[in-house]
Parts: sequence; C-alpha cells; structure tokens
Amino acid sequence: MTRLRIAILISGRGSNMEAILDAARSDDYPANPVLVLSNRPNAKGLETASNAGLAAIAIDHKPYGKDREAFERAMHTVLTDHDVEMIVLAGFMRILTPWFVSQWTGRMINIHPSLLPKYPGLNTHQRAIDAGDREAGCSAHWVTEGVDEGAVIAQARVPVLADDTAETLSERVLGEEHQLYPRAVALAAREILSKKKPLSV
Ligand code: GRF
Repeated sequence: MTRLRIAILISGRGSNMEAILDAARSDDYPANPVLVLSNRPNAKGLETASNAGLAAIAIDHKPYGKDREAFERAMHTVLTDHDVEMIVLAGFMRILTPWFVSQWTGRMINIHPSLLPKYPGLNTHQRAIDAGDREAGCSAHWVTEGVDEGAVIAQARVPVLADDTAETLSERVLGEEHQLYPRAVALAAREILSKKKPLSV
C-alpha cells in the first residue's frame, strides 16, 4: 500500500503528534510520518519522536529574528530533503508567510481548538466561555494564507459545562483532538494520494 510521507511540525508538548504516531503504526494507515520538526529545541515532543525512532529535528526560529521567510526556507530545505509530501501542523506556534503557504498549498493541514469559523487565533476556550457558548470543539482544516481560515476537513464537539474554566474545557477538547486529528490526517492523505499522477511509462 502506498503511504504518503508526512512531516509533523510542533512547538511543544506534542500530544497530537503522539496520537498520529500511534495511528500510523497500523499498516493500513495512509500516512507515514518520516520527520518531526520543531521551532523550539526544547520541545518535549521532539524527545518523544526521537524515542519512537523518528527523525526529530529542531530549527530554532530565534536566530532568524524578524526574517520569517529565511527561517521557513531552512525548514523547507529539511522537508524536501526528507521527501515530505504533506505537512501536519500540530501545535506549531509560528504564523507562516504567504511564501511558505504557497509552497505547500493543498498539502498542509492544521488542528485548531475551536469550532471554526468561530474563534480563530488564540485563547479559544476562554472566548467560548465568555460568549456563553454551550458547545465547543476542535477543527482540522487545510492551511491557507489567512490564519485558521482554510476549508474544514472534520470537526468534533464537546459540551461547555457551567463550571468550566479554560483549563477544564481545553482538556475535554484535547481528548477529542486526539481522536479527530489522526482521522483527518488519513482523510487528507487519501485525498492527496488519489490525485497523485501515476508514473508515465
Ligand atoms: C492543541 O490544542 C492544538 O489544537 C493547538 O495547539 C495545541 C497543541 O497541543 N493548535 P499538543 O502539542 O499537540 O499537545
């Protein structure tokens, strides 16, 4: 079975990354994680990935200062060196430039902890509580230039309880992310694989 070569980009804990690595242990999973990249050298997820036998590489964004594109060019080189076919953003906390997004259009997805189009950006759980929402959740979506604006691939919902804090709500949503994201990665990978041109003879 052909499996799509994916890179998972993280900045910290990497619990969504772990959920994807678990799913990818099954032979019939259509995506094969070949690389984990972090912009933070001390990200806990890097250690988890390397313990799992994966190429786990840090590219610190700090030395690049305000030159976001130079940082991204360094990432792009590593990604292409590993023959990556799709990028999975999983808690990657850098906004990407139009240049990088254009290199990976239709080949990059993200997980966001809200029911998009509600609450793009940060502090999603507090914003849902403050608005009196009775429902919250998470969305997996294709990445486009606008932050958290690309087409939604799949969503999962949870109730917001009367005594919820941002922390308790985020834990409930995170549990759903771990179910949803591996499924969304598989859906996106199958879609990309189905469009792949056969080698001409
Ligand atoms: C998740 O809540 C995800 O929705 C958001 O960042 C968090 C990453 O958590 N984009 P983890 O690093 O996967 O544990």
